[in-house]
Amino acid sequence: MALDSKILAAARRRHEERVQAFQAQREARLKAVYAAVPEAEEIDRALRALVMEAVNVSLQKGEDPVAAVEQIGARSLALQEKRGRLLEQAGFPRDYTDRDYYCEACRDTGYVGTAPCQCLMELYEEEQNAALSSLFKLGNESFDTFDLSWYDDAPAAGGKSPRQVMKIVYDFCAAYAERFSEMKKSLLFSGPTGVGKTFLSACIARAVAGQGFSVVYETAGAVFAAFEADRFQKSEDPDAARAHVRRMLTCDLLIIDDLGTEMTTSFTVSALYEIVNTRLITGKKTIISTNLTKEELQQRYSPQIASRLLGEYEFLRFAGQDIRLKRQDLGL
Ligand SMILES: Nc1ncnc2c1ncn2[C@@H]1O[C@H](COP(=O)(O)OP(=O)(O)OP(=O)(O)O)[C@@H](O)[C@H]1O
Ligand SMILES: [Mg+2]
Repeated sequence: MALDSKILAAARRRHEERVQAFQAQREARLKAVYAAVPEAEEIDRALRALVMEAVNVSLQKGEDPVAAVEQIGARSLALQEKRGRLLEQAGFPRDYTDRDYYCEACRDTGYVGTAPCQCLMELYEEEQNAALSSLFKLGNESFDTFDLSWYDDAPAAGGKSPRQVMKIVYDFCAAYAERFSEMKKSLLFSGPTGVGKTFLSACIARAVAGQGFSVVYETAGAVFAAFEADRFQKSEDPDAARAHVRRMLTCDLLIIDDLGTEMTTSFTVSALYEIVNTRLITGKKTIISTNLTKEELQQRYSPQIASRLLGEYEFLRFAGQDIRLKRQDLGL
């Protein structure tokens, strides 16, 4: 699993702010307590001295330090008990200043060993979702809200009904998202407009990002614009443009929506080749949605791209009629 460095940096910034806010609150609480209960400050000094004493005792050679440390522990407990009582008498909760860290598990470093702590990963997930907000604009796309009843269940001429087709597509995508780490293949969603390609991409994105993988969503137009900004130094911030392209090449899951709606030029074809080829070679998964059929993909893009998309990607043909129009007819 590769954490996205830009998203991780944003999460770490928020983590740092949170720790600072916590420490500021802790200091303010201590100040209020010391003002109201001066003895608490003396007790805290005594408690710190006891910690040092315990360290010194354990380092002393030749004597059995266990009994001495136990005795120090008992003195410490008695002082803490007294401190709690004094705080209560002054109207504070007993444990008002007991928390030393916002997160005990990582002691506010954000890491447990070399692994990011749960507290940092929660912020990472929030940042990841914010980065995917253009995909989650409706806010409720998930495998639970995907509704098969939008698809006609009358069998198409001699074949499966759109609902049967979409049940297979749905089941495949749900399993793909659930066991994302084991999956090897990239996906190609092909189908007419308004039948749930972006919706299912969002379901997968949400589930995969929820497992801590880095997910980047872009429309094809935005992908090529980013490549162009980087290649032709069009951006005011060349480092950001470079980082944007790098994220698209290296994230765990890249979702390219609406391939085929861009104005296809030799530049967009070469950029698409670079993305598809680089991600295949490095074993990174990609989901591409398009209204184009297999034949149209072959006509529009180079044989090298078509061969990779049609030969290496899992091709999922979506079926049904425009759900946008159906919803509009129903006044939804
Ligand atoms: N299975 C579904 N259950 C509920 N709502 C759906 C479902 N599929 C699609 N929708 C809704 O229908 C509309 C169109 O779906 P979506 O945007 O996913 O279509 P699309 O296949 O990506 O179309 P296009 O090719 O035009 O991009 C959206 O409002 C979406 O929320
Ligand atoms: Mg779409």
